[in-house]
Amino acid sequence: MGKGGMASIAAIIVAAGRGERAGGAPKQLRDLAGRPALAWSLARFAEHADRLVVVTPPDLAAAVRKLAPDATIVDGGDTRTASVRAGLEALAADPPDLALVHDAARPLVSGAVIARVIEALKVAEGAAPVVKPADALKRVSDGDQIEEDVARDHVRAVQTPQGFRYAPLLAAYRALPAGAALPDDVAVARGAGIAVAAVEGDPDNLKVTYPEDFARAERLLAKPVQRVATGTGFDAHRLAAGDGLTLCGVRIACDLALVGFSDADAGFHAVVDAILGALGEGDIGAHFPPGDARWRAAPSRLFVEDAARRVAARGAEIAHVDLTLICERPKIAPHRAAMRAALAAALSVDDTSVSVKATTTEGMGFTGRGEGVAAQAVATLVWR
Ligand code: CTP
Ligand code: MG
Repeated sequence: MGKGGMASIAAIIVAAGRGERAGGAPKQLRDLAGRPALAWSLARFAEHADRLVVVTPPDLAAAVRKLAPDATIVDGGDTRTASVRAGLEALAADPPDLALVHDAARPLVSGAVIARVIEALKVAEGAAPVVKPADALKRVSDGDQIEEDVARDHVRAVQTPQGFRYAPLLAAYRALPAGAALPDDVAVARGAGIAVAAVEGDPDNLKVTYPEDFARAERLLAKPVQRVATGTGFDAHRLAAGDGLTLCGVRIACDLALVGFSDADAGFHAVVDAILGALGEGDIGAHFPPGDARWRAAPSRLFVEDAARRVAARGAEIAHVDLTLICERPKIAPHRAAMRAALAAALSVDDTSVSVKATTTEGMGFTGRGEGVAAQAVATLVWR
């Protein structure tokens, strides 16, 4: 059984255009409020479809595969019509009941719009989201002279996703003459006699077409921050002779060891305390008491993952974590990039949301004498 109740649903996201009017880097992969444009529709359709097909230009297939590891990636054609056909053909061997065709150029599509299209397909052969124009409509000449009024009552702007029963839509595409280029799937379906119902679209479901559309889409996607909280964390662990240690999630082979109940990763512990501090949820010792057999020699990554889960459970996001390791030895610089990656992975955030720095205390104090490693961290959480 599929996500549409009884019906299985495939979403075909067409992203094989050249974005000539937008100019610059391929518009389907341009950054929009922190993620590639295509990633926004991928995330939406993953919630509503059982299968995803992404149609791309061959040279972007590898980049798209990274964004959509579970999707079927298909090479597009010279026209949108050819690209949709390629997406439909990729499903022919194991046909779904319903196909939703969506333009990657509409990254702002909402779950509500997708759900309305799917709901309409319980009775309709085809369905597409539409928006009623609020402005008066006029026909203009090639020379930009306003000519006559166009009655608004029966005119709608049509968006995607456009949804259909899969088999008749595939048949409609296969019946097109070679090289046919139609404006959208509704046009192809109507040409084959398929009735298409209009469902309520969303004025914010804009199609990113011109350079200025990116700024508008970004404004709509970037939800305002409601609340910010900062927490600090500090930890220190003793150094002893040994055969290596784990610091900020990275195993360092050396003649030292860190002494502690868990793996004594002072870096990760400082991060956990910083996050707990921002949440106001006590400290690491309260959640993972030393002496509890479960945490003996435990990898501290588990504690960091737990902290990240607490952030999500409280409806927050990690905006940034900055960690400073303080020690004379081991030398941190050769491991800094790996540490940053390990911290980002444990928190399930992008590398750009974390920073790892290191300093010595110029021979002063316990870190200076090499008795131990200290770490301090600042975590910034936001609620949107
Ligand atoms: N599309 C496609 N294959 C094509 C042309 C377009 O898959 N040969 C896709 C685009 O990637 C886009 C959607 O169809 O998601 C709507 O097309 P449009 O907004 O016109 O995008 P582009 O064709 O990329 O842009 P332009 O026309 O400015 O070059
Ligand atoms: Mg185009």
